[in-house]
Amino acid sequence: MPRRPIVGGNWKCNPEDPAKLDELVANINACDTSECDVYVCPSTLHVGMVFQSFTNGAKVAPQNCNFKGCGAFTGEMAAEQMMSMGMEWCLIGHSERRGEFGLPTPAESSELLATKMQYLLDTGLKCILAIGEPLPVREQGVEAVLAHCVEQLKPCLPYLDADKVVIAYEPVWSIGTGVTASPAQAQETHKLIREWLAKEKSPELAAAIRIQYGGSANAKNAAELSACEDVDGFLVGGASLKPEFAEIVATIAKVKSSANAAAPADQPAVAEPASEEDAQAARLSKLANEMAQEKLEERARLEAAATVAPVAVPVSSAPPPCELEKTMTSPRLAAVETPTKSSSCSIL
Ligand code: PGA
Repeated sequence: MPRRPIVGGNWKCNPEDPAKLDELVANINACDTSECDVYVCPSTLHVGMVFQSFTNGAKVAPQNCNFKGCGAFTGEMAAEQMMSMGMEWCLIGHSERRGEFGLPTPAESSELLATKMQYLLDTGLKCILAIGEPLPVREQGVEAVLAHCVEQLKPCLPYLDADKVVIAYEPVWSIGTGVTASPAQAQETHKLIREWLAKEKSPELAAAIRIQYGGSANAKNAAELSACEDVDGFLVGGASLKPEFAEIVATIAKVKSSANAAAPADQPAVAEPASEEDAQAARLSKLANEMAQEKLEERARLEAAATVAPVAVPVSSAPPPCELEKTMTSPRLAAVETPTKSSSCSIL
């Protein structure tokens, strides 16, 4: 059963001026939601202003919630309030709330987030759970990355339900930096997470749950990332404040529907052949998957050849991000060498 793509726009603490909200709402309303679920996470101050503004089925997902309900909880948002306002989703676990960005306040632990998840689901809401590793973990290699993600997922394991939970894998080093995980890196990590879920929860859950990629996703890199088999959507920050958000939604909807149409090799041919454009998209999608697979096999060969230590895959020597933005806005990445642009990934 193919997974329906899902793309979220995380406005974070934007815009400063509420007069800009109309423009941002228009970006979301411009999305075609017929083949892709769309949600948007307005800032806490603005969520009540815009929650009824979406005309295309896009859902509102606040960026946090409490786990106690209404009452004397200053500064909090209750799941019950969200329900009463007709909301269906809530985002939890973003690294900016876990404390990855140096918050001076205590970080939200994985255990706290599991409590929040349970509370949300019990109240009748659905939940997007963000997870992801910081740069020093990525530099230790993919096994360390998986271990980090597992630590974040484990307390939530009892509550995972493919109809009610979406996982957003967001490598911290790629958030707001312009450095996107390469399709091979994203596919490898998503696949490992899915395999872990199959082992620890059930193969059915693992096959059905949607895993979004987040971290400098934009209209330029959406096609290559969408072509990765285990990438089911995006959690988009910066680009969700721009008109290109609708392009990201359109791209993944198209790539996934072409891939689904082309996927089962033993399926009888469809009566109406796909358009040349669709057939081309399916071929490119297949090619991107093969390329990602080749990179993974190459990595496995290198790791097998290493006798002393496993081959670490720092961002600088990993398969280079295909769409590396030249401007790195994060000082945290100032030390990261700029990879060269990979022509082999520029398939679309
Ligand atoms: P970004 O943010 O797209 O600006 O990197 C993603 C996120 O933090 O959810």
